[in-house]
Amino acid sequence: MAIKFSKTFLLRKLHQLTGIVPLGLFYFVHLYTNSTALNGPRIFNEHVEDIHNMAYLLFIEIFGIFLPLLFHSIYGLLISGEARHNVLSYGYSRNWFYLFQRITGIFLFVFLLFHILNFRFGLIPGLNMTPVAGNADQAYRIVAGEFQIWWVLLIYFLGVIATGWHLAYGFFLFAVDWGIVIGEKAQRILLQASLGLAVLLSVAGINAAMAFVRPCGLLPQVLCEAPRVTAPATRHV
Ligand code: HEM
Repeated sequence: MAIKFSKTFLLRKLHQLTGIVPLGLFYFVHLYTNSTALNGPRIFNEHVEDIHNMAYLLFIEIFGIFLPLLFHSIYGLLISGEARHNVLSYGYSRNWFYLFQRITGIFLFVFLLFHILNFRFGLIPGLNMTPVAGNADQAYRIVAGEFQIWWVLLIYFLGVIATGWHLAYGFFLFAVDWGIVIGEKAQRILLQASLGLAVLLSVAGINAAMAFVRPCGLLPQVLCEAPRVTAPATRHV
């Protein structure tokens, strides 16, 4: 008898859990780092450099990002293949949301492959060939250079919107499936909060991307902190 991945209890729970911790957590940190570009190239490069100077970075990347991402994506693709969509017969919003969750998941698989090869490794022929890893002082220049190409910027807009949706609705599914939010009214409120979070994450993601195209992104420039220049420490003799 063929194995139905969507019915494998432990793997399914692990799939849901990895979406929240570590991947969801990682994305909040990543969105924050990208948003520091609102304050200019120097500030963004410093934040990237701080990450590169973290102790045990390679272990954190392998066990905290790449392996959970690989498991979450591959298992997600397998259960997407098994899903039977019924939006046409039952047009309820929850059925549509279920379908969006799978569509954004499949898109994110392709997007993340492109994104990690593009920036982390500089390995997409015809695009940027300098990896950000090991070149933190050039991080802003590398990203800003890529975002001059309209279709690359468009892919990133779609990437941050898909991530905003996938993560926010993922929180809702997690809370319901793990029995954290049980009552019908509570679930309705949580669903609305998740949809609000999806919009918030998408707007913040687009604004972070725009910070590489124009100073302060989509915001008026008075709202962005002028980078403070700290005077070098003077030595008293
Ligand atoms: C405004 C849009 C984005 C920008 C400017 C951006 C920028 C970057 C940069 C510069 C790196 C390389 C970091 C390094 O090597 O130190 C990176 C890595 C990465 N990004 Fe993004 N990113 C964006 C959106 C996203 C989205 C939507 C996701 C989805 C979850 C994502 C997930 C990742 C992952 C998994 C890595 C690899 C992390 C690592 O190697 O440590 N990024 N990103």
